[in-house]
Amino acid sequence: MADGLTNVSGNEMCEGDSGQLPASKLGTKEFWDEAYSTELGNFHDTGDVGEVWFGESSMNRIIKWIKNCPDIRKISLFLDLGCGNGILLVNLAQCGYTNLIGVDYSEGAINLARSIAVAEQVSIRFQVCDILSTSEISALCTDRKFDVCLDKGTYDAISLNPEDTKGCRVKYIDNVFSLLAAGGRFIICSCNWTKTELLVQFKDKFEFLEDLPAPSLSFGGQTGNTVTTLVFTARNT
Ligand SMILES: C[S@@+](CC[C@H](N)C(=O)[O-])C[C@H]1O[C@@H](n2cnc3c(N)ncnc32)[C@H](O)[C@@H]1O
Repeated sequence: MADGLTNVSGNEMCEGDSGQLPASKLGTKEFWDEAYSTELGNFHDTGDVGEVWFGESSMNRIIKWIKNCPDIRKISLFLDLGCGNGILLVNLAQCGYTNLIGVDYSEGAINLARSIAVAEQVSIRFQVCDILSTSEISALCTDRKFDVCLDKGTYDAISLNPEDTKGCRVKYIDNVFSLLAAGGRFIICSCNWTKTELLVQFKDKFEFLEDLPAPSLSFGGQTGNTVTTLVFTARNT
């Protein structure tokens, strides 16, 4: 299933915002609805939770960073953008974080995430929400903004949208900015964009704090990371 989200960033795409990813079915809601329908069936039949995107090591790197961040508390308010099966939040709940919300535009993903959370006996709010819809995003923020916004593979999927990819990316960045509390952290994990590209794309709204480097791979005389994980905070406007 992970074929279309492999790292396609090459030298010609290192210009930041000038690069576009080729359109892919992974950029469509139909693809995810079908994938999660299958994964939900598998979970009910065998207990298999489905794909952990970018592997356990990427997830564990994010969790380790969160646990070591002095500003993030167990009661901090988290939002996982495009949570899929919700495994990242399930793991955070098992580490003692109590204020966790996951959103995804695929109802199947939300049903799968809820089923897994029930099986794991953790309390997490999962909700259907299109991150590109300003009204749906505003409805998430009625009481307060989020201390931590997480994205593992969702901006990648949005960047593969066959229609108006650049417009979708700009909308995503605006909407995430509107969700994040002052001083909050936005952690993004991507296999389709390099660090340089992400810094260019997010620079107007977000200040870069640090990266969580993955072990480097060498192939064909070139060395690089297959997964880029960056931590940002919202810029003061
Ligand atoms: C590569 S998967 C990653 C899922 C999850 N974050 C993980 O790490 O397992 C991308 C996810 O983004 C979701 N997604 C894509 N576009 C979205 C949108 N506009 N609003 C909400 N979710 C979206 C998909 O349904 C899918 O669950």
